[in-house]
Amino acid sequence: MTTSSLAVSECTLSSTTHANKSRHTFSSLKGKTFVVKLGGSTLEYQRMVLQDCICLHALGASIVLAHGGGPMINEWLTKLHIPICFQHGLRVTNAQTLEVVRMVLCGQINQELVAMATLLGGDVVGLCGTDGNIVQGHIADESLGFVGEIDAIHPMLVRQVIDDGYIPIIAPLGLAPNGSCLNMNADLVASRLASALQASRLTFLSDIDGIYGSDGSLVAEMNEAEAQTLIERGIITNGMIPKVNACLHALEDVPCVQIANGRTPHVLLHTLEDLPLGTRFVH
Ligand SMILES: Nc1ncnc2c1ncn2[C@@H]1O[C@H](COP(=O)(O)OP(=O)(O)OP(=O)(O)O)[C@@H](O)[C@H]1O
Ligand SMILES: [Mg+2]
Repeated sequence: MTTSSLAVSECTLSSTTHANKSRHTFSSLKGKTFVVKLGGSTLEYQRMVLQDCICLHALGASIVLAHGGGPMINEWLTKLHIPICFQHGLRVTNAQTLEVVRMVLCGQINQELVAMATLLGGDVVGLCGTDGNIVQGHIADESLGFVGEIDAIHPMLVRQVIDDGYIPIIAPLGLAPNGSCLNMNADLVASRLASALQASRLTFLSDIDGIYGSDGSLVAEMNEAEAQTLIERGIITNGMIPKVNACLHALEDVPCVQIANGRTPHVLLHTLEDLPLGTRFVH
């Protein structure tokens, strides 16, 4: 059995309850590009997300996986007694913090994802946003340190890797014009990549079911005005602020933009069913 057919059969086995719908949906995956942002907070659930990615890839979709690493970076900063500080959901990154961010994102998380996906039968390539100048940026705000704002995405290397039959797994770092490395918010990298690749779907997997509104219930659909109101009222806070901005930005180019819970078994397969799931962004 080839690795692809193994992935498909594993996927089919694990989603038998959705077999009929899946057969219909899977027939139309060729030529589609799905960008998935795997939140740092969901990394412990990475196995099932990777299985879904491998399955969809084997069925003809182009898959791009961008990952974060917040909790693991915090763990290492704590171990090394380096203070942790956020402003509006963005990590304040001095030179020492940047060293840890680079080591954890590229040396640990990216490599773990690549190793696990390979073990599961996937053809994957680990990349960092600085490879091939994929993510080019500048320092966003001196008070945040080495946090980058994206100026340009150069998707050529990502396209090449896709065309060669691999799933690229991308760590969110970027390059400044002077060659220095910048810490990029992974949600914004995923969003800009999805636009540059003209993806048909962008799915943010996090540790929550979606966005919770003022009454604490899950918001199934959200437009820009509603999102801005919830941010102004302090109901959307912390890491959800850049995520919402990333969703709204991508919506200009990507038809389906959604936040869902990475802990839900086979959540990526469920997103293809076009049933209510998580929070979907609308115009
Ligand atoms: N209105 C809201 N609804 C849902 N979650 C919210 C809301 N406001 C703030 N949050 C927070 O946003 C968090 C998700 O963003 P966070 O940046 O922490 O995770 P991530 O983006 O999935 O991971 P990483 O940043 O490591 O890539 C949730 O765990 C929740 O605590
Ligand atoms: Mg985040």
